[in-house]
Amino acid sequence: MARIMLDKSKRGWWESAVFYQIYPKSFQDTDGDGIGDLQGIISRLDYLEYLGIDGIWLSPVCASPQVDNGYDISDFRAIDPMFGSMEDMETLISEAGKRGISIILDLTLNHSSDRHFWFQEALKSRDNPYHDYYVWRDGDGVTPPNGMRATFGGSCWTWVPHLGQYYFHQFAVEQPDMNWDNPNLRRELYDMMRFWIGKGIGGFRLDVIDQIAKEPDLEITGNGPRLHEFLQELSREVLKEEGIVTVGEAWGANVERAKLYSAPDGSELSMVFQFQHIGLDQEPGKDKWDMIPLHLPALKQCLRHWQQGLNGTGWNSLFMNNHDLPRVVSRWGNDGQYRVESAKMLATMLHGMQGTPYIFQGEELGMTNIRLELDQYKDVEIHNMYAERTAMGYDHDTVMNSIWARGRDNARTPMQWTSGWHAGFTTGTPWLPVNPNCVEINAEAALDDPYSVFYYYKRLIELRKTVPVIRFGSFELVDPDSEQVFAYTRDSADQHLLVVCNFTGEEIAWDIPAEYQEAEILLTNYEPTPGILKPYEAMMLLINE
Ligand code: NOJ
Repeated sequence: MARIMLDKSKRGWWESAVFYQIYPKSFQDTDGDGIGDLQGIISRLDYLEYLGIDGIWLSPVCASPQVDNGYDISDFRAIDPMFGSMEDMETLISEAGKRGISIILDLTLNHSSDRHFWFQEALKSRDNPYHDYYVWRDGDGVTPPNGMRATFGGSCWTWVPHLGQYYFHQFAVEQPDMNWDNPNLRRELYDMMRFWIGKGIGGFRLDVIDQIAKEPDLEITGNGPRLHEFLQELSREVLKEEGIVTVGEAWGANVERAKLYSAPDGSELSMVFQFQHIGLDQEPGKDKWDMIPLHLPALKQCLRHWQQGLNGTGWNSLFMNNHDLPRVVSRWGNDGQYRVESAKMLATMLHGMQGTPYIFQGEELGMTNIRLELDQYKDVEIHNMYAERTAMGYDHDTVMNSIWARGRDNARTPMQWTSGWHAGFTTGTPWLPVNPNCVEINAEAALDDPYSVFYYYKRLIELRKTVPVIRFGSFELVDPDSEQVFAYTRDSADQHLLVVCNFTGEEIAWDIPAEYQEAEILLTNYEPTPGILKPYEAMMLLINE
């Protein structure tokens, strides 16, 4: 089937689009330093075009000391030499554009690196013009202004003796939060965003955007009182060009807020990347390291809430993976015997819904989690958490189990291109070990196998473009209380879609609703058997009126 190219000149083109996230450090190395680079991405554009995606969410490539793998930016207008040059970036934008693929730049507007010129100036004195670009409180160096804890462990406050002040950081010490109350800071950020639009990028992924309007004195991080005012200003100032897509990462979003973020009039952003469904297998009120099994009815209710809640009034991002999350096939599927079946099943569940799907690199191959020794991990979050939890009395094995299940490096191991040396990722030493299962799980093998996870994703992408009910139909659960099957319908005036997913590794009895008995089978991961769902079986059935 010929590739369908979207007209990206108008707002809303992303409603038919599928995006692909690249974590540049781990995608493809071309210079042998063991770290992926922009030339590597350029060399793989044909692969991505063949898969059929419309945009690349490019995790940060700006200049950075890499304390948090690029989410600590020291120059928003420069490319980190580790990834290449500005010329490489321009080539990537234009080569991707030729293939109908937009580049969506990942920006951290909440914080910068402590090496950023603004912060270096801010450190010089309290009356430096850049001082107020960051968040400071006076203190005594003994007791921080309050007990707020940073996401990567420790206090949110770091003491600077020569200023007699603490600065505020929600993430690592090296990621000072910027002060959005300062209009000069906002103007500089908008200017920088216009610089990138001028380079031809298709949009922005805005890191922890719900945290920019923090109010530390009130212990507010997400959803601060001025948040939507700031986003509306950003939209007016920067996003005037019709086709620019923006996806806001918002851990604290609920449906009502998401309607503001992604209002169809474009007054804020295009869509929101929220995590309610992702947090369902952790103990309520605790953090992600405190795991509980996924209760399927809870997942269904959560996704129904978002599907119904934003239909016609906002826009969802659809995802189960990114660079911060473990591989979904290891998390909610089965990465052993039923790896292929369960990877396809999970994809079916997600890609039948309304929203813009995001595929994280390697998801289309069914890549899995990895188990490393503690000192092989690179993630600042893993190491800070290990130190914190062992100090609290957790034993080594318990903490390692959490890391193996939830650590962010699970998603960050190098992309598996071939079964050969370092999976075809690098000729050097990879910065993070390659998963040894690359011998079996790799792009070359997937492209040779018509039943691979890759071709299944390719077909799902085609279906989004050719079956309108997937984009615009209403959503209803079938059998909401079932703990085994996730089934739902999508309905429009002239099309009806049924999506059925067996979330278990068991063969179970399940009857297709009568009205779908004669429906067209759009996609399945098995040859269907009446009355039965095989382990991790999935299907999409269509009725045209
Ligand atoms: C969210 C990003 O996805 C994550 O990787 C990063 O560590 C934090 N924001 C801080 O920028």
